Amino acid sequence: MRHISIISSSVREGRKSHNVSLYFQNYLIENNLSTTEIIDLKAYKFPIFEGTLKTLIDPADNILEFAQKIKSSDGIIIVTPEYNGGYPASLKNAIDLLYEEWKHKPIGIVTVSKGPFAGNQALVSLQFTLWKMRAWTIPAMFSVPTVDKAYDENGKPMDKTNSDKLAAIFIKELLWCIEADRAPNHLWAV
Ligand SMILES: Cc1cc2nc3c(=O)[nH]c(=O)nc-3n(C[C@H](O)[C@H](O)[C@H](O)COP(=O)(O)O)c2cc1C
Repeated sequence: MRHISIISSSVREGRKSHNVSLYFQNYLIENNLSTTEIIDLKAYKFPIFEGTLKTLIDPADNILEFAQKIKSSDGIIIVTPEYNGGYPASLKNAIDLLYEEWKHKPIGIVTVSKGPFAGNQALVSLQFTLWKMRAWTIPAMFSVPTVDKAYDENGKPMDKTNSDKLAAIFIKELLWCIEADRAPNHLWAV
């Protein structure tokens, strides 16, 4: 069984996008689709990094742990809120820490907003950054508008039928990309 990590990006007190991270964790487990864990940037309490991991002198254990979790995940879901049309500094800080760890990593992006536009303005800048890191962002997306009204603090969706329907499409694509990524190397030989 593949392992999908969910990065919960908001470190804000009273954050709501974390509820969507909990939803995906529950969804993957309930449907027996993968092993999973939430990589919670709020819990890590990272400082603003003064360099990439390769250049940090004596990095803290939790920094090394974070890097290892990214590296060893078969696929990643990034759950990001939209802040002023972009993604949060906490997420950029964590992305820029690493490089090789992101290479060819299948990544599904979930955008979340309080307003009606579902964080879609944060999507393109995050995709571009991940493309620069040579990660593999999947074509499917999952967008959550009016998050306050959509998921409770346990990740329970107000409209489970619709949420599960959209999640199924999104996760199917992520799992397809994971399997393609894991295909034997000889298939890629030219
Ligand atoms: C600095 C900041 C900027 C924000 N900008 C937007 C925005 O551009 N559009 C929007 O719909 N919501 C915006 N919001 C509200 C967030 O979408 C809202 O907090 C939502 O719950 C997701 O973020 P959270 O996980 O931190 O709660 C902003 C919130 C903060 C703290």
